[in-house]
Amino acid sequence: MNRILTLSALLWTVLGASSVLAAEASHSEQIYQQQCTSCHNSTIHTRPEHFITSLGALRQQVKRCEAPAQAHWTDEDTDGVIAYLNSNFYHFPIP
Ligand code: HEC
Repeated sequence: MNRILTLSALLWTVLGASSVLAAEASHSEQIYQQQCTSCHNSTIHTRPEHFITSLGALRQQVKRCEAPAQAHWTDEDTDGVIAYLNSNFYHFPIP
């Protein structure tokens, strides 16, 4: 039961991310460029050994990186950056 709840929560957030894709694109690119490029630039997303293999993994990593970046983003900001990274680098299918 818990697994099903977790899965539907995940699907919900992924679907939410897709709906902000268009509107948030430039804002998301901006906050990514401003707050996420002190340790790595966007070439890390296409490095040969990159380990992100799903939207869920991408979400986890973005959240993990938000702390050291001191990003203090809203859920919308996070969803927007995930959508930005996905549409520009990862190209995971959006369910
Ligand atoms: C304090 C340094 C630091 C900051 C700031 C930072 N990152 Fe990262 N990020 C890393 C490191 C280190 C890795 C590689 C982790 C590994 O190889 O295990 C990484 C990896 C990633 C990856 C996975 C790359 C891949 O292999 O496909 C994503 C996505 C990512 N970061 C997103 C972000 C986002 C979004 C932000 C801004 C909120 C951000 N990062 C800010 C250190 C940082």
